[in-house]
Amino acid sequence: MRVKHKMKYGAAILATCMGLAVSTGAVAAKEAFKPLNDAEFEQAKSMYFQRCAGCHGVLRAGATGKSLEPQPNKAKKSKGTLKLGTKRLTKIITQGTEGGMNNFDDIFTAEEIDLLARYIQMEPPVPPEMPLSLMKERHKVYVDPKDYPTKPLHGRNWENFFVVIERDAGKIAVIDGDKHEIVDHIDTGYAVHVVKAAEHHKTQHTPKGEPAGRFWYTQGRDGKMTKIDLWQKPGNMLVAETQMAYDARDVAVSGDGKYVIGGGYWPPHFVILDAVTMEPLKVVSTRGINVDGEYVNEARVAAIYTTPNEPTFWVAVKELGQMWQVDYTDLDNLDINQVNSAKFLHDGFFDPTGRYFQIAANASNKMVIVDSKTGKLEAMIDTDKKPHPGPGANWNDDTCGPVGGTTHLGVGKVTVWGNDPKGHKDQAWKICYELDTDGAGVFIRTHPTSQYVWADQTKHPEPLIQQSVKVFDKKTRKVVKTIQVTKEEGKAAVHMEFNADGSEVWVSVWNRADASNPTGEIVVYDAKTLEEKKRIKGLTTPTGKFNVYNRVNHVT
Ligand code: HEC
Repeated sequence: MRVKHKMKYGAAILATCMGLAVSTGAVAAKEAFKPLNDAEFEQAKSMYFQRCAGCHGVLRAGATGKSLEPQPNKAKKSKGTLKLGTKRLTKIITQGTEGGMNNFDDIFTAEEIDLLARYIQMEPPVPPEMPLSLMKERHKVYVDPKDYPTKPLHGRNWENFFVVIERDAGKIAVIDGDKHEIVDHIDTGYAVHVVKAAEHHKTQHTPKGEPAGRFWYTQGRDGKMTKIDLWQKPGNMLVAETQMAYDARDVAVSGDGKYVIGGGYWPPHFVILDAVTMEPLKVVSTRGINVDGEYVNEARVAAIYTTPNEPTFWVAVKELGQMWQVDYTDLDNLDINQVNSAKFLHDGFFDPTGRYFQIAANASNKMVIVDSKTGKLEAMIDTDKKPHPGPGANWNDDTCGPVGGTTHLGVGKVTVWGNDPKGHKDQAWKICYELDTDGAGVFIRTHPTSQYVWADQTKHPEPLIQQSVKVFDKKTRKVVKTIQVTKEEGKAAVHMEFNADGSEVWVSVWNRADASNPTGEIVVYDAKTLEEKKRIKGLTTPTGKFNVYNRVNHVT
């Protein structure tokens, strides 16, 4: 009696699960399973959603993390959580494993871990859907587009602004990159994941003719999307918002500046919105058949990018292992080209020509390359454990020519591959070299004017390593400096971004243990001497940073 579809959260499912646990004789004999009551179930559901669903999925079918379904599944090499039992599950959640499962004893109490261990033995509740009508109800316009200012109202050099995610505050900070001053904190909703702007493409301007980079769009983990106008006075920068999912990760703006696209984790779909008003226009489900021929309900949109030279978006459908190239020229007759690659697609970046998109399939240990011009898979590169490039880095190597690089979530390493099939055919899409760091990281970054590449080590369990970043030389391929960004307890160094002219590198000090206070900061380094220049204080959990000029012009 498996309950799979459309069960409401709470009592109904609880009763079924109790029945299930009792009827599974072997389990009942092994240890008396203690089902959760309604209140406990709600609490565990919320904890699971916040802390576990990203890796394991809300339906627990598995992604970066293993399947956590109650019943065994041979194909997924899963014993099933009922068989593992409360004691073993508690131990795994408390201590983590060597295979990449985090320890949660520093985040949850023993009682909370017990709730989670029991929750994952019950059938996963299926969250509700979100129709277009509901998205339209949640659409709000704060400033009518006809009232948008015709020139910047603050007299600052907005093209060197940094838009900074203040993750746990549910805010975006706008920082003046020339003056190192915080211009505004904007309410964007829970845990913004990504911020993007219209970019310089063939058509460089928005329909109203403003330059690219003026408007920024955020995607929150709660599916709330906002539009930010950097020409407005501080306090008025939020101009429109909507909600397009309950759980979401990415956003992109079409090359013609007409559309914004948001990608959902739940419901698994993407939504195309009017970039001017933020009105939701079109919803497309990403549920489907994966590269192995199996139906996937929770086929999540991991990442979305606009293609620099074509009128299309790349939509990375994580669990399907497919890159969907979506032509946005005709929303009523949508043309979607599905490119098979590898499962668990995550995030990526374009090569310097803007033709090839290089994306990690993290749990498959591959970098996948798709060709935006032919709409085909170009190559797959086998890498070490769990590549994760974030916004990525491209540079020139003396031997391999143009190269791209990634950090890894699973190992302290930077992997570098050739990415110029035209000029360096023999090196293209092959590993050029690997370089060891002290710990697994999340982000890598460089700039054309810099001789260095920066890699963080945020995933390493040792605080001093987490709090430092590696800088290596493009020419010698050797680490030239390990920068100890902070030594303060409960803080980690994460994510690098150059300023517009490439003379500075900004690194976030993420105050994760004190996430409700503005005790985080950004440390500004001189990109040449690697010396510290300045600390910008007063930020709450700063993580990703986006320099207006660099992002709009694809400077990586
Ligand atoms: C960063 C990604 C990540 C997050 C977040 C995460 N897990 Fe995991 N989890 C994994 C990976 C990877 C494995 C497989 C580990 C291995 O094989 O050693 C795993 C394994 C497990 C297992 C063992 C399953 C089995 O069949 O052996 C359990 C139980 C588990 N996770 C529960 C949780 C719970 C509960 C949470 C939230 C509190 C959580 N995980 C959050 C990545 C994650």
